[in-house]
Amino acid sequence: TLITLIDQLRDTHLLSKEEWIFLIENRTRDVSEYLFSQAREVRHRHYGHEVYIRGLIEFTNYCRNDCIYCGIRKSNLNACRYRLSETDIRNCCRTGYELGFRTFVLQGGEDGWFTDQKIISLIEKIKTDFPDCAITLSIGEKERESYQAFFDAGADRYLLRHETYNSTHYGKLHPPALTAAHRQRCLYDLKEIGYQTGTGFMVGSPYQTAEHLAEDMLFIQQLNPHMVGIGPFIPHHDTPFAAQPAGTLELTLFMLGLLRLMIPKLLLPSTTALGTIDPNGRELGILAGANVVMPNLSPTDVRKDYALYDNKICTGDEAAECRHCMEKRMEKIGYHVVVARGDSLNTETIP
Ligand code: 5AD
Ligand code: FES
Repeated sequence: TLITLIDQLRDTHLLSKEEWIFLIENRTRDVSEYLFSQAREVRHRHYGHEVYIRGLIEFTNYCRNDCIYCGIRKSNLNACRYRLSETDIRNCCRTGYELGFRTFVLQGGEDGWFTDQKIISLIEKIKTDFPDCAITLSIGEKERESYQAFFDAGADRYLLRHETYNSTHYGKLHPPALTAAHRQRCLYDLKEIGYQTGTGFMVGSPYQTAEHLAEDMLFIQQLNPHMVGIGPFIPHHDTPFAAQPAGTLELTLFMLGLLRLMIPKLLLPSTTALGTIDPNGRELGILAGANVVMPNLSPTDVRKDYALYDNKICTGDEAAECRHCMEKRMEKIGYHVVVARGDSLNTETIP
């Protein structure tokens, strides 16, 4: 039965592809509640009631790629493009540090203006300014040599969602130049280099099936990453997927719970996209097994321009507002934002 499968996942961390599909297709409210209670227990065992915060700095929305779902794809001529200067970025970190952030996530489109040398110099400066902080990069697919150079310069972590494991499905979400295989290669490179590595996928992306989600879970188990970012797909009005339905809160929470049981020590963010499809989405994500939130540190004048999807929350709020809002939201459900780097406890190396 479904409950037996959840117990099996909790105890052995292992399900077959057929079992994953069965669980996903036949989930009910009661099964979800059971899953979430087990996921919370596992989470509390390793991470207690602490919630790690990451300061997200969206430093460029220029992108050479053309992912069909994404609002900053290069074909979107309506996107208002911006780049933050090195000084802007360091100031974001300064503000963030004072607010208690000890991880900065530098996220951007694949923007050739930011050469490897510029990224390296940025990493070195931030590491000098804030030696007790972790730097997470989220800047897409690069050569292995570039990943190595960023790591040598002091970058600690890297986020690169695999988006979907299935190559046919991947092809429906991306232009032909991008392949699932290359994405996955990048992730193994990152992990081998020594990054705390994050992958992830969108829930309810167009054409996604339960089988695809099963394949995503099996891939993640293989990769054994330190972090997994998932959130619902949300349509952006200036993309070919404008009329596609959004992913659901319910399925996203279910997948979060499953991820917690599959890899107990995972760093699992309750994402902005989850907060966008439901006003309580981020709290519900924490209650389903997530243990990280990533409030925005980008300057308010550019926030609305980093629009991967429509109706993104917090675009009008100052960093301090988000920081305090998050603290209150977490306290309300019995969790505490902590001032810490929040490194992964999942220290087993490559399989
Ligand atoms: N809806 C939800 N998530 C999206 N992303 C990009 N576009 C969308 C969208 N329309 C996610 C992708 C990417 C991450 C930075 O944001 O998974 O990896
Ligand atoms: Fe940004 Fe609540 S987290 S306003």
